[in-house]
Amino acid sequence: AGVSTIPLRFTLNGKPVEREIPANRLLADLLRDDLGCSGTKVGCSRGVCGACTSLVDGRPVASCSTFAFQVDGCGVTSIEGLAREGVLHPIQQAFVDHAAFQCGYCTAGMILLTKALLDHEPDPDRETIVEWISSNVCRCTGYALIIEAVQDAAQRLRAGAAA
Ligand code: FES
Ligand code: FES
Repeated sequence: AGVSTIPLRFTLNGKPVEREIPANRLLADLLRDDLGCSGTKVGCSRGVCGACTSLVDGRPVASCSTFAFQVDGCGVTSIEGLAREGVLHPIQQAFVDHAAFQCGYCTAGMILLTKALLDHEPDPDRETIVEWISSNVCRCTGYALIIEAVQDAAQRLRAGAAA
């Protein structure tokens, strides 16, 4: 017998999505394979590395370890949802300007994780940033440049909000 399908409705990057999905479909596979959001990377597949981070109602989740049906009725943000009309989001631009990635595999997850932090804590101290991003693994950069990028992104967003 096949896996039964269930209806799913949610918004992805602000756009409504309606799908019949297998009950065991993972959010990461739905995003990457069904909805063309291949910026979502899958590393460990075990909820450990954070490469697959997406935001569900603003909270970071490991989409490799989340069933798609769990986002029914929610607002999901993937990395594709950040740039506006070809202009990078200030967090993305800060990561570029600080060269805060090498292989780039962790980057989408790091940026979404950063967004979740800065959305609720616009002026985090360094310790808070270090602790917050420690949930995601970067094997390349040693984190120093990522922390700088997050600090700079916070400053840019605050400046933007004040403007
Ligand atoms: Fe999802 Fe590592 S791929 S946490
Ligand atoms: Fe390679 Fe972070 S830049 S894992």
